Amino acid sequence: MPDLDYRQLEILDKMGIDIWRLRHRQSGENAAQADNLADNLADNPADDRIDDDAEADSKSVEQLIEPKSAIALERQPELTVDALNTLDNVAMEINRCQRCQLHATRIKAVPGVGSLQAQWMFIGEAPGQNEDQQGLPFVGRAGQLLDAMIAALRMQRSGVFIANVIKCRPPANRDPVPEEIAECEPYLHRQLALVKPKVIVALGRISAQALLKTSESLGSLRGKVHQYGPSNTPLVITYHPAYLLRSPQQKSKSWEDLLLAKSVVDSILHEN
Ligand code: URA
Repeated sequence: MPDLDYRQLEILDKMGIDIWRLRHRQSGENAAQADNLADNLADNPADDRIDDDAEADSKSVEQLIEPKSAIALERQPELTVDALNTLDNVAMEINRCQRCQLHATRIKAVPGVGSLQAQWMFIGEAPGQNEDQQGLPFVGRAGQLLDAMIAALRMQRSGVFIANVIKCRPPANRDPVPEEIAECEPYLHRQLALVKPKVIVALGRISAQALLKTSESLGSLRGKVHQYGPSNTPLVITYHPAYLLRSPQQKSKSWEDLLLAKSVVDSILHEN
């Protein structure tokens, strides 16, 4: 197991791994919670090694979290950062996030859904009322139109990744404020690093401006391939589906944007 740096330690800390280990050993009532996390870890192929390597790696894990939970560490599985940093685990962190004030008014956080193999990532602005209730992105009428846009590209919702710039609903659907966007951005970066899409499609002005950290108009941002995030993922801007519901005459322009995004994906696939 490699040495863990500050960020990796933070991930362990945020996930409450030490607490979970103690509870797993000491309390039957928390067994379900422990099983949940175990299931999530089991999703990662790196975990195939968990039981085999338990003895060998117990010392390095112990160094991480002693003395609080040294009691629980005799037979620790290997907790590699890759194993911890799955989409499910990012979602778990989002679900209990309290980094900004939106946690106080949300019903459910909305981490995002989709495939780890997705080549396309669609990023909206923020959950609305339906999304807040269901914990899923784009489930209302705008979501139905987004599904139709995805279908027009000969894909399915389950084959792409759909998320929002911020993961919790702002009260009365107000625009997200810069602090909320900044606090949430690390989650998006982690989702991006895991999914590694070939293209991002930003849905609407708020999403585009937040991702590009600009106040330029949507009109001036459309029609070009931008880049986003630590890995400079190609980013194409289009209209928000809710806007297209109100202004269906703009659908043809949105289709042009999607074709631009498709040309990006096709050219990357062609290169490889
Ligand atoms: N609008 C968004 O921007 N995101 C959603 O998830 C739903 C509506």
